[in-house]
Amino acid sequence: MTPHCSSRLPGLSLMWHLAPPGTHSRWLNTGAVPAFIALLASPMLNISEQAVWALGNIAGDGPSYRDALIDCGIIPALLARLTPDAPVGYLRNLTWTLSNLCRNKNPFPRFSAVQQMLPSIIQLLHHGDKSILSDACWAISYLTDGPNERIDVVIKTGILPRLVELLGFEELSVVTPALRSIGNIVSGSDLQTQAAIDAGVLSALPQLMRHAKSSVQKEAAWAVSNIAAGPCQQIQQLITCGLLPPLVDLLRNGDFKTQREAIWAVTNYTSGGTVDQVVNLVKCGALEAILGLLQVKDTKTVLVILDAINNIFLAAEKLGEVEKLCLLVEEVGGLDRIEFLQNHENNSVYRAAQALIDKYFSEDGEDQCLATEATDTNFVFGASDVQKRFDF
Ligand SMILES: *[C@@H]1O[C@H](CO)[C@@H](O)[C@H](O)[C@H]1NC(C)=O
Ligand SMILES: *[C@@H]1O[C@H](CO)[C@@H](O)[C@H](O)[C@H]1NC(C)=O
Ligand SMILES: *[C@@H]1O[C@H](CO)[C@@H](O)[C@H](O)[C@H]1NC(C)=O
Ligand SMILES: *[C@@H]1O[C@H](CO)[C@@H](O)[C@H](O)[C@H]1NC(C)=O
Repeated sequence: MTPHCSSRLPGLSLMWHLAPPGTHSRWLNTGAVPAFIALLASPMLNISEQAVWALGNIAGDGPSYRDALIDCGIIPALLARLTPDAPVGYLRNLTWTLSNLCRNKNPFPRFSAVQQMLPSIIQLLHHGDKSILSDACWAISYLTDGPNERIDVVIKTGILPRLVELLGFEELSVVTPALRSIGNIVSGSDLQTQAAIDAGVLSALPQLMRHAKSSVQKEAAWAVSNIAAGPCQQIQQLITCGLLPPLVDLLRNGDFKTQREAIWAVTNYTSGGTVDQVVNLVKCGALEAILGLLQVKDTKTVLVILDAINNIFLAAEKLGEVEKLCLLVEEVGGLDRIEFLQNHENNSVYRAAQALIDKYFSEDGEDQCLATEATDTNFVFGASDVQKRFDF
């Protein structure tokens, strides 16, 4: 490194920090980027670190800056500095810059760049430093926040068990991005969700649903809502692993954002679950909890709840237990709330509320219930059998 370069750098760096947003393109145009990249190789770590930091800032400015850096060869230059003897402070900076190179969509970083970075990121996910773990996790969360092909690239590294392990950490700065990554992965295909389940994610989720921080509760509920949208085998695993009680707790006691995710979980679950599974959820108190939330202001949420109620009634129809369910809804004050929604200003809400009332709570509806009950008893279950297994 020439003295000329090293003496210029602090000045450049200072200007960097003073530069207003949006002026970073000047660095690209003036050829500063290749100079910074060259400085990464400086034997003086403080110089190299300044370059790591400046480049990380540029990378974080948006996909075009990020890709310009990648085109200039930043990745191999960074990875060359990733050695076992590198000091922790330096590694933190390097990890943060790597994470910014994974960040942003429209477009995503190209696959070849991701493939180049991933082995190092995976390695950093096993580091002992919490700040390094945090940024490496954020990198994974960016890489999984996309279409299923993107998620697959990450799953194929075999990192899932480690991500699940990180869910159990004390530090919020680690748990948050680990949970975001897991949430992204279970929003992928059924196979990808299954891979997360197989890595043990369902054992880690209950404690996160009961986490002291509501932001963690919300993210955990979001993950559950996506698992609940899967096939009934996966729904069954939610039951087996004991996720229904904490889910109902969140419906009752979570903050509104958390409740909203938990409501989605119930709606997804009841639309894809078997009749037995739906009954199981109702027995855990979910119906009562969502009926209690029908007064919320948010129209979309009310519609999602009405959808869940409708799904639960469809299950009751299959069992010939509509009347029992009607009684249960009435007992917990749900009928009054549904009736009240018939005056809702939003068309979709009052139509959905009206449809429930007409179908299940009016004279005509009762006639229909009896007919359904008779049919079901005839060719699916013996009446006493139904009685024993499903008592709403
Ligand atoms: C980097 O460290 C060297 C040696 O410790 C020191 O002489 C130099 O002034 C430092 N440069 C910057 C830019 O901090
Ligand atoms: C990275 O290094 C720069 C320059 O030495 C320093 O100002 C910055 O705080 C460091 N950032 C991190 C995340 O360690
Ligand atoms: C399940 O819930 C989520 C909300 O987290 C929603 O975005 C998604 O579309 C739902 N999935 C299905 C299959 O309905
Ligand atoms: C009713 O609410 C839904 C959900 O917020 C919204 O998409 C729809 O446009 C609303 N309909 C009317 C007629 O306002």
